[in-house]
Amino acid sequence: MNTIIQFILKSRLQKCFYKLNNILCEKNSLLPKKISTSCVFRHGEYEWQDPKSEDEVVNVIYVDKDGNKTNIKGKVGDNLLYLAHRYGVNMEGACEASLACTTCHVYVCSKHLDILPEATEKEDDLLDMAPFLKENSRLGCQVSLTKELEGLEVQLPPVTRNFYVDGHKPTPH
Ligand code: FES
Repeated sequence: MNTIIQFILKSRLQKCFYKLNNILCEKNSLLPKKISTSCVFRHGEYEWQDPKSEDEVVNVIYVDKDGNKTNIKGKVGDNLLYLAHRYGVNMEGACEASLACTTCHVYVCSKHLDILPEATEKEDDLLDMAPFLKENSRLGCQVSLTKELEGLEVQLPPVTRNFYVDGHKPTPH
Protein backbone atom coordinates (compact mmCIF):
# COMPACT_ATOMS: atom_id res chain seq x y z
CA MET A 1 0.00 0.00 0.00
CA ASN A 2 2.84 2.36 0.94
CA THR A 3 4.40 1.76 -2.48
CA ILE A 4 1.19 2.79 -4.22
CA ILE A 5 0.88 5.97 -2.13
CA GLN A 6 4.53 6.83 -2.81
CA PHE A 7 3.94 6.22 -6.51
CA ILE A 8 0.90 8.54 -6.59
CA LEU A 9 2.72 11.27 -4.66
CA LYS A 10 5.73 11.01 -6.98
CA SER A 11 3.45 11.32 -10.05
CA ARG A 12 1.76 14.43 -8.66
CA LEU A 13 5.05 16.05 -7.71
CA GLN A 14 6.48 15.44 -11.16
CA LYS A 15 3.42 16.96 -12.86
CA CYS A 16 3.83 20.09 -10.69
CA PHE A 17 7.50 20.13 -11.65
CA TYR A 18 6.61 20.02 -15.37
CA LYS A 19 4.29 23.00 -15.00
CA LEU A 20 6.82 24.97 -12.95
CA ASN A 21 9.54 24.17 -15.47
CA ASN A 22 7.34 25.46 -18.31
CA ILE A 23 6.71 28.72 -16.45
CA LEU A 24 10.42 29.16 -15.68
CA CYS A 25 11.37 28.48 -19.30
CA GLU A 26 8.94 31.14 -20.51
CA LYS A 27 10.13 33.66 -17.91
CA ASN A 28 13.77 32.96 -18.77
CA SER A 29 13.24 34.31 -22.28
CA LEU A 30 12.52 37.71 -20.69
CA LEU A 31 15.72 37.76 -18.61
CA PRO A 32 18.82 39.83 -19.51
CA LYS A 33 21.22 38.01 -21.83
CA LYS A 34 23.98 37.75 -19.19
CA ILE A 35 21.92 35.20 -17.31
CA SER A 36 22.00 31.64 -18.60
CA THR A 37 18.64 30.68 -20.05
CA SER A 38 19.27 27.02 -20.67
CA CYS A 39 16.60 24.63 -19.44
CA VAL A 40 17.63 21.10 -18.64
CA PHE A 41 14.88 18.60 -19.36
CA ARG A 42 14.43 15.45 -17.36
CA HIS A 43 12.88 12.28 -18.78
CA GLY A 44 9.60 13.15 -20.44
CA GLU A 45 9.62 16.90 -19.80
CA TYR A 46 10.54 17.78 -23.38
CA GLU A 47 7.35 16.09 -24.60
CA TRP A 48 5.30 18.56 -22.52
CA GLN A 49 6.53 21.41 -24.71
CA ASP A 50 4.42 22.33 -27.74
CA PRO A 51 6.09 22.53 -31.16
CA LYS A 52 7.61 25.99 -31.65
CA SER A 53 6.80 26.05 -35.37
CA GLU A 54 5.07 23.99 -38.04
CA ASP A 55 8.51 22.83 -39.19
CA GLU A 56 8.85 20.88 -35.97
CA VAL A 57 5.46 19.19 -36.10
CA VAL A 58 5.26 15.42 -36.53
CA ASN A 59 1.73 14.01 -36.48
CA VAL A 60 1.37 10.61 -34.84
CA ILE A 61 -1.61 8.27 -34.61
CA TYR A 62 -1.87 5.97 -31.61
CA VAL A 63 -4.27 3.05 -31.99
CA ASP A 64 -5.36 1.37 -28.77
CA LYS A 65 -6.02 -2.36 -28.40
CA ASP A 66 -9.70 -1.81 -29.27
CA GLY A 67 -8.84 -0.01 -32.49
CA ASN A 68 -9.63 3.52 -31.23
CA LYS A 69 -7.36 6.13 -32.80
CA THR A 70 -5.85 9.18 -31.11
CA ASN A 71 -4.26 11.79 -33.37
CA ILE A 72 -1.47 13.67 -31.68
CA LYS A 73 0.58 16.62 -32.84
CA GLY A 74 4.08 15.71 -31.73
CA LYS A 75 7.35 17.35 -32.63
CA VAL A 76 10.83 16.41 -33.75
CA GLY A 77 12.72 14.78 -30.88
CA ASP A 78 9.65 13.63 -28.96
CA ASN A 79 9.85 10.17 -27.48
CA LEU A 80 6.83 7.99 -28.35
CA LEU A 81 6.41 6.84 -24.74
CA TYR A 82 6.45 10.26 -23.11
CA LEU A 83 4.31 11.78 -25.85
CA ALA A 84 1.73 9.05 -25.15
CA HIS A 85 1.84 9.93 -21.45
CA ARG A 86 1.23 13.61 -22.15
CA TYR A 87 -1.93 12.86 -24.09
CA GLY A 88 -3.28 10.10 -21.87
CA VAL A 89 -2.60 7.22 -24.26
CA ASN A 90 -2.51 3.99 -22.31
CA MET A 91 1.16 3.09 -22.78
CA GLU A 92 2.63 2.13 -19.44
CA GLY A 93 6.41 2.49 -19.62
CA ALA A 94 7.04 0.91 -16.23
CA CYS A 95 10.83 1.30 -16.30
CA GLU A 96 10.75 4.91 -17.55
CA ALA A 97 12.62 4.17 -20.77
CA SER A 98 15.56 2.50 -19.07
CA LEU A 99 15.21 -0.63 -21.23
CA ALA A 100 14.19 -2.89 -18.40
CA CYS A 101 10.62 -3.84 -19.31
CA THR A 102 8.41 -4.33 -22.36
CA THR A 103 5.39 -2.30 -21.26
CA CYS A 104 5.96 0.31 -23.97
CA HIS A 105 5.59 -2.34 -26.70
CA VAL A 106 3.99 -1.04 -29.92
CA TYR A 107 3.43 -2.22 -33.49
CA VAL A 108 4.79 0.24 -36.05
CA CYS A 109 2.90 0.66 -39.34
CA SER A 110 4.69 -0.84 -42.33
CA LYS A 111 5.03 2.54 -44.06
CA HIS A 112 7.39 3.83 -41.38
CA LEU A 113 8.98 0.63 -40.08
CA ASP A 114 12.01 0.79 -42.37
CA ILE A 115 12.60 4.48 -41.62
CA LEU A 116 13.26 3.77 -37.95
CA PRO A 117 16.83 3.12 -36.90
CA GLU A 118 17.38 -0.58 -36.25
CA ALA A 119 16.64 -1.82 -32.76
CA THR A 120 19.68 -2.28 -30.57
CA GLU A 121 20.59 -5.74 -29.31
CA LYS A 122 19.20 -4.83 -25.88
CA GLU A 123 15.86 -3.70 -27.37
CA ASP A 124 15.68 -6.89 -29.44
CA ASP A 125 16.40 -9.03 -26.39
CA LEU A 126 13.61 -7.34 -24.46
CA LEU A 127 11.18 -7.60 -27.34
CA ASP A 128 11.74 -11.35 -27.35
CA MET A 129 10.05 -11.38 -23.95
CA ALA A 130 7.08 -9.22 -25.02
CA PRO A 131 3.70 -10.93 -25.33
CA PHE A 132 2.17 -10.93 -28.83
CA LEU A 133 5.46 -10.13 -30.51
CA LYS A 134 5.22 -9.35 -34.25
CA GLU A 135 7.64 -8.50 -37.06
CA ASN A 136 6.84 -4.81 -36.63
CA SER A 137 7.18 -4.74 -32.84
CA ARG A 138 9.28 -2.00 -31.25
CA LEU A 139 9.63 -0.47 -27.83
CA GLY A 140 7.96 2.95 -27.85
CA CYS A 141 10.47 4.42 -25.44
CA GLN A 142 13.24 3.83 -27.98
CA VAL A 143 11.52 5.73 -30.80
CA SER A 144 12.23 9.43 -31.25
CA LEU A 145 10.23 11.42 -33.78
CA THR A 146 11.85 12.80 -36.90
CA LYS A 147 10.25 14.66 -39.81
CA GLU A 148 10.48 11.44 -41.86
CA LEU A 149 8.06 9.84 -39.41
CA GLU A 150 5.24 12.28 -40.25
CA GLY A 151 1.94 10.37 -40.12
CA LEU A 152 3.43 7.53 -38.07
CA GLU A 153 0.81 5.08 -36.83
CA VAL A 154 1.55 2.85 -33.86
CA GLN A 155 -0.77 0.26 -32.40
CA LEU A 156 -0.74 -0.92 -28.81
CA PRO A 157 -0.68 -4.71 -28.31
CA PRO A 158 -3.61 -6.53 -26.68
CA VAL A 159 -1.63 -6.91 -23.43
CA THR A 160 1.74 -6.02 -22.01
CA ARG A 161 3.63 -7.71 -19.24
CA ASN A 162 2.80 -5.65 -16.17
CA PHE A 163 5.10 -5.61 -13.16
CA TYR A 164 2.13 -5.40 -10.79
CA VAL A 165 0.67 -8.75 -9.78
CA ASP A 166 -2.48 -7.24 -8.25
CA GLY A 167 -3.71 -5.73 -11.51
CA HIS A 168 -2.83 -2.19 -10.36
CA LYS A 169 -2.39 0.16 -13.31
CA PRO A 170 0.19 2.84 -12.60
CA THR A 171 -0.32 6.34 -13.94
CA PRO A 172 2.49 7.81 -16.07
CA HIS A 173 5.15 9.77 -14.20
S1 FES B 1 9.49 1.78 -20.81
FE1 FES B 1 10.55 -0.01 -20.19
S2 FES B 1 11.55 -0.61 -21.98
FE2 FES B 1 10.39 1.08 -22.63
